[in-house]
Amino acid sequence: MKKRYLIAATLMVLPAVSAIAANPNPAFKLRHQNFEAMGKAMKGIFDEFKKPAVNMATIKANSAILSQAAKKVSGHFPKGTGPEAGVKTEALPAIWEKPVEFKAATDRLVTATAGLQAAAALGDMAKIQAAAGAVGGSCKGCHESFRKPKA
Ligand code: HEC
Repeated sequence: MKKRYLIAATLMVLPAVSAIAANPNPAFKLRHQNFEAMGKAMKGIFDEFKKPAVNMATIKANSAILSQAAKKVSGHFPKGTGPEAGVKTEALPAIWEKPVEFKAATDRLVTATAGLQAAAALGDMAKIQAAAGAVGGSCKGCHESFRKPKA
């Protein structure tokens, strides 16, 4: 009985998975591109901190990229784009199970990146470094709860 149920379940699941894999939701690509852009912008900023003379234009440009990208994150996780979609993803089911906490994590990123952009506009290095640290904390905070840990 149990075995028959398993076979039936497998038959039901398989075509659905291959259909999605053949036609993946554009949300996957969009969010990967957006996160990659954020990762690159963060690196661009932290690389400047290591230089004897920082390039403020680079910091400003990357801060603008970050604050724009941050606003998109909440829209990049429509229902059905979790691991159940059968597509390679590090998104944890917690994103959809704990929507209030996930929204708080995206809001934190939006606020932190806006703060960084404001500090960059002032050109104040102490403020920029503190704000960049807060942005990094918001990335880490969300990854710890909502992104699959690296094996
Ligand atoms: C609100 C939650 C959240 C915040 C905030 C967040 N991330 Fe992520 N990040 C994720 C999730 C979830 C994934 C996995 C996405 C997937 O695999 O589908 C991810 C993946 C990534 C990846 C791997 C590329 C990818 O798409 O798999 C990079 C790089 C990344 N994030 C960088 C950052 C940086 C840099 C920040 C801060 C500036 C940040 N993230 C903030 C949730 C977040």
